[in-house]
Formats: sequence, structure tokens, C-alpha cells
Amino acid sequence: MKKITVVGAGNVGATAAQRIAEKQLAEQVVVIDIVEGIPQGKSLDMWESAPVELFDSSVIGTNNYDDTADSDLVIITAGLARKPGMSRDDLLFANTKIVKSVTEQIVAKSPNTIIIVVSNPLDVMAYVAYKASGFPKNRVLGMAGVLDTARFKLFIAQELNVSVKDVSALVLGGHGDSMVPLVRYTSVAGIPLTEFLSAAKIEELVKRARTGGGEIVNYLKTGSAFYAPSSSVVSMAEAIARNSKRILPCAAWLEGEYGLKDVYCGVPVKLGSNGAEQVIELKLTDEEQEALNRSGKDVLDNIKKLEL
Ligand code: NAI
Ligand code: 2OP
Repeated sequence: MKKITVVGAGNVGATAAQRIAEKQLAEQVVVIDIVEGIPQGKSLDMWESAPVELFDSSVIGTNNYDDTADSDLVIITAGLARKPGMSRDDLLFANTKIVKSVTEQIVAKSPNTIIIVVSNPLDVMAYVAYKASGFPKNRVLGMAGVLDTARFKLFIAQELNVSVKDVSALVLGGHGDSMVPLVRYTSVAGIPLTEFLSAAKIEELVKRARTGGGEIVNYLKTGSAFYAPSSSVVSMAEAIARNSKRILPCAAWLEGEYGLKDVYCGVPVKLGSNGAEQVIELKLTDEEQEALNRSGKDVLDNIKKLEL
């Protein structure tokens, strides 16, 4: 790829930009933020690591959307995190405004780009970017499932004292308490998880994955997770940049798949140079389908609160 832009030079954005540069996913990495100096300073600092890390990507920080022109891929991390006294709805409205305005400015300069949204509440913000861009659904997706799955996999590997490399898992649904880890499709070296752990233990790990974001916030106090989130979004960027056709759980626009319609929700998606190239449909049990329906409804309820 020639150019990847990261919007938001905060914790997730800056760390994602660094990982993108180190993996040389694009010739140029642009980091844009509204705060003057921060994207410029962080980007120059990152670029100065090139002779040590031995990457040839350039890293440019800016406050001007002209510098983002003709991006092949844009990652939107701009937005607020929830602050004391702020309701989920306050965050919803504040970040909708930010993501809408960012998307409009990005699209004006990069009409052919693919957009990956990270800002929260994730599934709703993916919808906001989809609407604001006017892009086809394959070019707007959201990151949450890779992170939620990574957390679930780590907790399983820790519990069993095995390599994370041997754990395979899938988490569907929206990002948040209603996510749907599919235990039936979770295995360790091909062996179903249920062969290793009791239902009660598995439920404990599922619960920890569901609340994994909050666990980090409780430690950090002033911010939320960013190392695993940036890895997660960069894995999606890498699949798109290298056209590798990886199947990763992503928030995708659904038009009847999994019985969900006109909503963004986490499902397995094949990623390639055209973005979200295919939603992979699985047959769910009644219980799994009900959980996914509930998760989709949570997202829809929030979408309905917006006036776009
Ligand atoms: P942060 O506060 O460190 O960074 C946010 C950045 O956005 C700041 O630098 C801020 O100046 C910038 N910003 C605000 N308004 C802007 C605008 N209009 N244009 C350009 N930049 C703007 O926050 P952090 O930790 O990087 O998180 C970013 C977002 O990602 C939050 O909404 C957070 O909840 C979400 N998140 C989502 C995850 C997921 O799984 N989808 C995981 C982790 C974070
Ligand atoms: C997380 O799950 C804050 O959504 C973010 O860590």
C-alpha cells in the first residue's frame, strides 16, 4: 500500500501507527489529530526509530486533511473515552459528532479509501462512518472482535498453561457486555475446549473476556486499553494491505446475514484488498442466535437515538 492514515494521535492511534510503520504496511503513514503538535511530535519520534527498527515507511504527523489525500486505508481512533459523570449516551453523542466530521473530511480527500473504525461505542461508530461516507459496505468496517477474541484466547491459554498459538476461538456480536463468545467453535490444538474445562470454568473465562476492557480501565484509571487494541486493528490492516484473505471477526454491515439487518455487528469476515470481502455465515444454535439477536438489538437501539 502507498498510504495509511490514522486519525487520532492518542494511545490507540499512535501505537497503531508505530506497528504499521514497523510492519511496513505502507510507504507512508500519516497521523492526524485536532491537537496541534502532538501528531507531528509523535510521528517524528516514531520515524526517528526507523534507522534502529529498520523500516522504510515514512511517518508524518499533521492537523491538515490535505496531507491525508489519496489514502488507501484509514483507521479512525478519534474520540473521547468515558469520563466521570458522563453517561454512555453522552459519549455516544459526542463521538458521533467527532466520527461523522472526521469521516466527511477523510472522504473528501480519499474517496476510494477503506475505513476501519475503532472509536467507541464501536458498532454504532462504524455505522456513523458508513452513513457519513456513503461508501459501499465492503469499505467500512469496525474493529472489536479481534480484540475480544484475543482476550478470550489469552485467558484460555493462561488457564491451561498452553501456548496462545494453539488456541482458536471466535467471538461474535457487538463490542461490550453483550458480545457472544462461541464456545462450540473454541478449540486448543483442534481439541474442543469442553474437553479441557468444565462449563463453569469456561463461563468464568467468557465473563472475563466480556469485561476485559473494564478490567484494564480499572487498572489505568485515566484511560483504556491500547496495546492489544492497536495490535488488533493492525492485524485487520495487514490482512487488507497484503490481500491475505484472513478471516477475522469484524464489525460488518449486515443485510440479513445471521438474521440481522441494517446494523453493524461482529461476524467473521474475509479481509482482502477490497476490504470486507465476504461475511462467513455459520449455523448457530437457538441459544447462540438469541444471544446474537440481543447484541444486535443493543446496537440498533443506539443507532435509533442518532440523528444523522
Ligand atoms: P485517546 O484519548 O488516547 O486518543 C483519542 C485522540 O483522538 C486524542 O488524541 C484526541 O485529540 C483525538 N481527537 C479527538 N477529536 C478529534 C477529531 N475531531 N479529529 C481528530 N482527532 C481527534 O483515546 P484512545 O485510548 O486512543 O482511544 C480512542 C478511541 O478508541 C476511544 O473512543 C476508545 O473508547 C476507543 N477504543 C476502542 C476499542 C475497540 O475495541 N473498538 C479498543 C480501545 C479503544
Ligand atoms: C476495550 O475493550 C476500551 O473498548 C475498549 O478495551
